Amino acid sequence: MLSFLRPTLRYIRPSKNLTHKSTQTAEQGDPMEDIQCAIVGYGGIAAFHADAIEQVEGARIKTVVGRRQEPTEAFARKRRAESWTIDYSEMLKDDGIDAVIITSPSELHFNQTSAAIESGKHVLVEIPMAMSHKGARTIAGQARKVDRKVMVAHTRRFDGVGGFTKEFIASGKTGAIYQHHVMSCWLRHQNIGWTGYQRSWTDDVLFHHGCHSVDFSQWTIDSDIRRVVGELAPLNTVNGTSMDFSMLIRYANETIATISLSYNAHQPFRANRYSCENGSLEIEGKIVRFNGESVFETPENPEDGVLVQDREFFDAIRENRQPSCNADDALRALRPLQQVYDQALTAEGSKRYKRPWDL
Ligand SMILES: NC(=O)c1ccc[n+]([C@@H]2O[C@H](COP(=O)([O-])OP(=O)(O)OC[C@H]3O[C@@H](n4cnc5c(N)ncnc54)[C@H](OP(=O)(O)O)[C@@H]3O)[C@@H](O)[C@H]2O)c1
Repeated sequence: MLSFLRPTLRYIRPSKNLTHKSTQTAEQGDPMEDIQCAIVGYGGIAAFHADAIEQVEGARIKTVVGRRQEPTEAFARKRRAESWTIDYSEMLKDDGIDAVIITSPSELHFNQTSAAIESGKHVLVEIPMAMSHKGARTIAGQARKVDRKVMVAHTRRFDGVGGFTKEFIASGKTGAIYQHHVMSCWLRHQNIGWTGYQRSWTDDVLFHHGCHSVDFSQWTIDSDIRRVVGELAPLNTVNGTSMDFSMLIRYANETIATISLSYNAHQPFRANRYSCENGSLEIEGKIVRFNGESVFETPENPEDGVLVQDREFFDAIRENRQPSCNADDALRALRPLQQVYDQALTAEGSKRYKRPWDL
């Protein structure tokens, strides 16, 4: 066979230890087919998703898609996948794959998500779903037109602290929220991710970490955004992106949020506090305090939030309903971030601020 015609999906001989998980429909008692997944990427967050899928009944990692052959195959073997490939479009042609979990570098999310939806796959995409509001709008528009599920991995919505904070505010115990202060500052002068994985790509304080913070703020405050103003550092000459970013949000319900993020802090610093009518609500790691007293504490680790989140994705597919945090929900965070970016471009021109990513 001519080499350019050779399929690039490589099969791994099944291991004797391969356990095939299946589940039953509550209504019929018939065995249900496993939801067959492709994981795209084998880095820090991919391992968390793989752990989660291994714990969800009725879901299975069928294929791993990577950039380099050796680690792609190694990850596939470790996770007892059936096959692996470095050809994303080849994977999409496989009708046996129901769902694609995208954990690749952020700038690939738009193309990979869009193509997966076009190919009839369900998609769970890591945040951000695109590197622009335009890209995210396109994805949300595509998702609306198909009967596939498109979910965005805003993991903070699914961990215990996030869920508690949202409910506590919604219960009325805090009263009105005057201000939400979010600060997250650490040193990111090298492309090393949070798990210590040496990245082949450059992270983005605006569209990745900004997306986390804006989404969490808006989700907990639960109000539309009336206006935003912000500032962005000019592109760093070494890594080609901005390393500092701050914004102010005015919500329709009058809450003001201040979000300030930095990759330039030699001493890491984090804060997440709400100044409210009835007191101060503060998130510190796994603890939530109200007026200084602990009101919630969890032994959870970050992977627990990923498990709850991924389970929601598979449940939504099975129950044929929209997942919590679908593409439309996640789209909301991209708009204010895009506004800050556009303000910087308009004020001082693209030379100082235009990032290498379009969509
Ligand atoms: N929801 C959350 O809380 C959360 C937390 C962390 C990260 N994230 C998001 O998750 C994504 C990945 O972050 P990470 O920390 O896991 O980064 P990472 O450790 O660098 O993993 C990225 C993976 O993608 C692979 N990759 C690169 N190009 C690819 C391609 N063309 N096709 C398939 N795979 C490719 C990389 O392989 P090579 O090393 O060979 O390039 C690497 O295995 C980012 O978008 C980030 O924003 C979200």
